[in-house]
Amino acid sequence: MMTEPMQRATPAASSGMFGARILELADRLATHSEMTGGLTCTYLSPAHRAVAKELQELMQKAGLDTTIDAVGNVIGRYRSVVPGAKALIVGSHYDTVVNAGRYDGRLGILSALVVAEHLQRAGQALPFHLDVIAFAEEEGVRFSAPYIGSSAVAGRLDQTLLQRCDAKGMSLADALQEVGTRLEDIAALARRSQDLIGYLEVHIEQGPVLLDRNLPAGVVTAIAGCARHQVTVHGRAGHAGTVPMALRQDAAAAAAEMVLALERRCNAEPGLVGTVGKLAVPGGAINVIPARCELTLDIRAGEDAVRAAAERDVLAEIARIAARRGVTADVVELSRTPAISCAPRLQALMAQALARAGVEPLHLPSGAGHDAVMFSGLTEIGMLFVRCGNGGISHDPRETVTADDADLGARVLLDIILSLP
Ligand code: HGY
Ligand code: MN
Ligand code: MN
Repeated sequence: MMTEPMQRATPAASSGMFGARILELADRLATHSEMTGGLTCTYLSPAHRAVAKELQELMQKAGLDTTIDAVGNVIGRYRSVVPGAKALIVGSHYDTVVNAGRYDGRLGILSALVVAEHLQRAGQALPFHLDVIAFAEEEGVRFSAPYIGSSAVAGRLDQTLLQRCDAKGMSLADALQEVGTRLEDIAALARRSQDLIGYLEVHIEQGPVLLDRNLPAGVVTAIAGCARHQVTVHGRAGHAGTVPMALRQDAAAAAAEMVLALERRCNAEPGLVGTVGKLAVPGGAINVIPARCELTLDIRAGEDAVRAAAERDVLAEIARIAARRGVTADVVELSRTPAISCAPRLQALMAQALARAGVEPLHLPSGAGHDAVMFSGLTEIGMLFVRCGNGGISHDPRETVTADDADLGARVLLDIILSLP
């Protein structure tokens, strides 16, 4: 392992060059969508595979050794000149939520790509491989299983997820085999700790803090933990006009109480958030008392004990509501990730690079989950947030980033890569 940083002239990159290219490429990738008039790009859809192909071509043109792996991650290696070199992974995800913004995940991939393009143009040698990775599935939209791409690379993919089915009843295993994956190839994607020097991710903040502080970027200190559940309430159907109110077992009314119970509990202490993102009466009709109602729970906190206590309380209250109303509530845990901290060494490097760029280094936590979570414990992780416009809105078409801020994020990433020993 090199002790002296390799002699590296920090190659000049004309100002604004990175930012303009990042936004232009984000617009290009956003043309691949499962919906008209907006962006939806969920795991292994035709739009998703078209984005993978575009990313592979961009990485190839940047001179990277590229591959699309068994779960759909697009990987481009900027090879080191040092024999037996370790690797730095710089990545984020290219799948999206439904009716998404075009920068969530993709800003991180494109920031790494423009840096790799620049290193290639400058003929810059690195003492480590730079692995640019576009992770295939982080949001957990299609199979309610987040981090499929990054967990496979981190050697943490829960194999039981292969049997999980999407809304059309197709299992993850079948969806992968349909695109030519041999399931036995997945295990080999796992990286070993001893082969890595670290993991970096540039991501939009998806909140208002940098905007409020009038800062273009910030250093992420930690990533909140998250637990997700699917709740199915079973009641009794009936005629909306003939069943007296006192005799009803209304699944939707019970679910509505459960939604408010989650909100009440998560309002009870700072740093705790709870969301019912999906709420449905399958096959419902205006004049039928709902026999079934489905809802999802997403509970997060910066401290695992706070989140676990809230989870326990909410699930207990759901059981009480069901008993009182004479309905049943089936609860299935969908996913769970712990709160994690970013490596102090990488936070310090990021803060120094921000200072060199003339930006006051603000340290802030992330309420959103990120692929970085999967690499915690395997290697040192660092995250750089880039300011979001429009009040910091994300997971919505109004998500925005300016070219200047995207440019700064990529420059700081380049600086960090060139300053890593
Ligand atoms: O839900 C999240 O925190 C992330 O956007 N996947
Ligand atoms: Mn997201
Ligand atoms: Mn994201």
